[in-house]
Amino acid sequence: MSIGIIGSGHIGSAFARALAKNAIPAVIANSRGPASLADIETELAPFVTAATREQAASADLVLVAVPWSKLPEALAGLPAWNGRIVIDANNPIELPAFRKAELRGRLSSEVFADLVPGARVVKAFNHLQPHLLSGNPQAEGGKRVLFFSGDDAAARADVGALIDRLGFFGIDLGPIAVGGKLVEFPGGPLPALNLVKFG
Ligand SMILES: NC(=O)c1ccc[n+]([C@@H]2O[C@H](COP(=O)([O-])OP(=O)(O)OC[C@H]3O[C@@H](n4cnc5c(N)ncnc54)[C@H](OP(=O)(O)O)[C@@H]3O)[C@@H](O)[C@H]2O)c1
Repeated sequence: MSIGIIGSGHIGSAFARALAKNAIPAVIANSRGPASLADIETELAPFVTAATREQAASADLVLVAVPWSKLPEALAGLPAWNGRIVIDANNPIELPAFRKAELRGRLSSEVFADLVPGARVVKAFNHLQPHLLSGNPQAEGGKRVLFFSGDDAAARADVGALIDRLGFFGIDLGPIAVGGKLVEFPGGPLPALNLVKFG
């Protein structure tokens, strides 16, 4: 399964580092184009390579980690999603004020899903700080926990398998209406937690 990353900032690059540590190939894109990604490409060679937004968006599984207000632009004009998996790692925060975006009573992943029509959206990688994502998932004698949720069970299973391969302990929170609410930041009870599974 090919992996693309849109957004090479704190979360996109932390995810890329986690993949590279496990020898999992991926392509990564940002707003400025592949030439601006030379440093991360060198750091994570040969596993992570710089790409255009369109190339990253063409992968079987695409993680999107872009500031909330930039998502429409970052996801505009891309190839049809055709049931491919898109991981929503984003939180509905308006910067630089750091206030919650207006979601009109919806969950952020429901709003996000409208931007990737036809994709199977899985909410994941949105609730840990970047250094915990790129750091050692074997923590304090256990495995660091990552939550994931989504309306398509097969897509959830694929993301769960990837989380497992990265060495984290994945917890399947079920559909977005349930899991998306629990990991919503701000507002949900889970994002502030840094949990470790023992045994
Ligand atoms: N930082 C955290 O602690 C944290 C934790 C969990 C979740 N999140 C969420 O993760 C998302 C990303 O946060 P971050 O901290 O990683 O942000 P960041 O460090 O500011 O990085 C944002 C990335 O998005 C890219 N981008 C912006 N507009 C784009 C466009 N039109 N096309 C392609 N790429 C575009 C930027 O490209 P350039 O590099 O070219 O500017 C940059 O690489 C946000 O939704 C945030 O709420 C953040």
